[in-house]
Amino acid sequence: MISKQATRPLRVLQLTDPHLMASAEGALLGVNTRDSLDAVIKEVLKSHGQPDLILATGDLAQDGSDEAYRVLGDRLGAFSGDCAWIAGNHDHVERLASAAQTYGAARRHIVQGGWQFILLDSSVPGKVFGELAKSELDFLAEMLEQHPDLPALVTLHHHPVDIGADWMTDIGLRNRADFWQVIDRFPQVKIVLWGHIHQTHEQQRKGVQLLATPSTCIQFTSGSRKFSVEDLAPGYRWFELQASGNFTTEVCRALDFEFDIDQNSSGY
Ligand SMILES: [Fe+2]
Repeated sequence: MISKQATRPLRVLQLTDPHLMASAEGALLGVNTRDSLDAVIKEVLKSHGQPDLILATGDLAQDGSDEAYRVLGDRLGAFSGDCAWIAGNHDHVERLASAAQTYGAARRHIVQGGWQFILLDSSVPGKVFGELAKSELDFLAEMLEQHPDLPALVTLHHHPVDIGADWMTDIGLRNRADFWQVIDRFPQVKIVLWGHIHQTHEQQRKGVQLLATPSTCIQFTSGSRKFSVEDLAPGYRWFELQASGNFTTEVCRALDFEFDIDQNSSGY
């Protein structure tokens, strides 16, 4: 007999690019990043309820401070599910890793709900672009080899494909060909998920769903030639994953969050 528990989909929340800072007043282009994260968490609990797993996909801190990671860990205490954190270009890798240990968010391979989740570090110290070290690519291949029967979600901070925005062409994953060479060997990979681009992006590649997600703070204009911010509310991505490998996903926004973004900025 199949129990109800076994047929219930796994509920996964992606939060990305919260850009938290040591100061409670810390703001990005006029948007207080603690307040916008709070608004997103409130929206998750209102619209979807508790997730089983939370993936925080980089740029967790804007300033790489211990305090920013502590704020994140405490805020995520609103959720009962386990978390996993990865680094983005703004993060301080060692401080993030230490805080992730404290908050039980340091796992990089997770098996849950009949799926596997592989979390990769694409950050390069001092650089905005991303790159996967050979050790990361080997780790990816090793995990996929060990679990051929589990549908896989692979996540990293940087975009591994062109997203049609000129100013972001050079700040994505540099060695993307090496990444796809591994992914293409494993048909169980269903989803590749990232942050970094502060906007929704969805495309298919050889049967794999490629997805990116709005930031929990400010949003970049999709398809823009130069740096540009969009007056869109902070958001998150929600997944319902079936053990069969089927899934649904959607992006939601905290529409009642009031903010006044500085549209005239030339960078962030
Ligand atoms: Fe970011």
